[in-house]
Amino acid sequence: MSVSAHLAGEAQRILRDNDTGRFIKPSPKQYPHQWNWDAALIALGLATFDLERARAEVRTLLEGQWKDGMVPHIVYHDGPSDYFPTPDFWRSERSAAAPSVPTSGLTQPPVLATAVRAIVERDPDQGAALTFLREVYGKLLAWHRWFYAARDPEGSGVVALIHPWESGMDNSTRFTGALARLTPTDVPTFRRRDQQHVAADERPVAGDYERFMYLIGLYRDWRWDPEALFERAPFLIRDAFTTAILHRANEDLLELATSLGEPTEEIAGWLARTRAGYSALWDEAAGLYFDLDLRAGAPVREDTCATFLALYAGLASEAQAARLAEHLRDPDAYAPDARTRFYLPSAAKSSPYFEPRRYWRGPVWLNINWFLVQGLRRYGYAALAERVVNDTLSLVARSGFAEYYDPRDGSPCGARDFSWSAALVLELL
Ligand code: GLC
Repeated sequence: MSVSAHLAGEAQRILRDNDTGRFIKPSPKQYPHQWNWDAALIALGLATFDLERARAEVRTLLEGQWKDGMVPHIVYHDGPSDYFPTPDFWRSERSAAAPSVPTSGLTQPPVLATAVRAIVERDPDQGAALTFLREVYGKLLAWHRWFYAARDPEGSGVVALIHPWESGMDNSTRFTGALARLTPTDVPTFRRRDQQHVAADERPVAGDYERFMYLIGLYRDWRWDPEALFERAPFLIRDAFTTAILHRANEDLLELATSLGEPTEEIAGWLARTRAGYSALWDEAAGLYFDLDLRAGAPVREDTCATFLALYAGLASEAQAARLAEHLRDPDAYAPDARTRFYLPSAAKSSPYFEPRRYWRGPVWLNINWFLVQGLRRYGYAALAERVVNDTLSLVARSGFAEYYDPRDGSPCGARDFSWSAALVLELL
């Protein structure tokens, strides 16, 4: 059997093993519920071999959608488990918009419309594909509308996050400054459980975790009201990463609208608004996109993998893309050299916060590699894209389908048998 046939077989096995019947867990032990962008990435991978199962994953995620359109970051279909935060911790029922299934009160990057487009386009039975699309289209539209209304009420084109977890890059170095400025008071009582299956030095430090809890405590007291959150959240960051994913998802949504004969003006408006506003995040001297911390009133001058998502979204000019490619080739920043051997570290090696094994502060994540590959191909950097594909496959061949990898030696970190790592390897193969 060839190496790729073997990897594909293993990847499919992991997705089947992590399947609870209703949804696919991100990993067997660490993450026993349904996560938002995990489900979308998993659906993308499923769409390479089981379209019906891919559609089911989208449907179950949307069962958690709030009445105001938000799709939450965790859906607890089966109630509590040994995972913390437990469903009751969020107090989501305090919001009139919450659905009947317990969920978190935060959202996550909207990859879903992109996955739905792949599911629809790959279906040889276009009649069935359009029936499915009709079922979910309005829900996707409502979620994107929520993003622009609730998280960009000022019309800047860049959506803001109220908690690091909304970025999916939960512990990224780009949130370190904003978290450090918070003074947690009245932190709800909690007992972390994220270190029972994964080593403590691969997980967030205590001070940051306390701040994650502090923010949730405030927001649940404000009944998860989007207006109150935007006005009062002490953590409010216009995020380059989520906005890039949303923009790309809007391109896909526009295609889907067209194939249904639905109106496209609203989506075209969002595309124009983000295209116009995103360039404000570009820092010409650094040659990078930086988030904007609305509470500090200043750009977040941290060099992380998030900056490359502008390529995935097609938001960079040719000149900006060339600067980003140059940065990717710089061994002090991201390129493999004597210190690291694999693309793409989640934070630049030159960052004072770089930690090669700690969650989002240096390790390689396969979803980020996948976004990067799409972006590099989009701008014609085929050789660089191939290099990232090869690194991704060799990480998996040597260390299995880990949640993340140490860029120095490729050793596995975090959870094992991780679903999106499996799904995205199927996509890349
Ligand atoms: C971690 C990741 C987040 C992911 C979740 C489930 O919290 O940071 O992005 O969605 O695990 O895999």
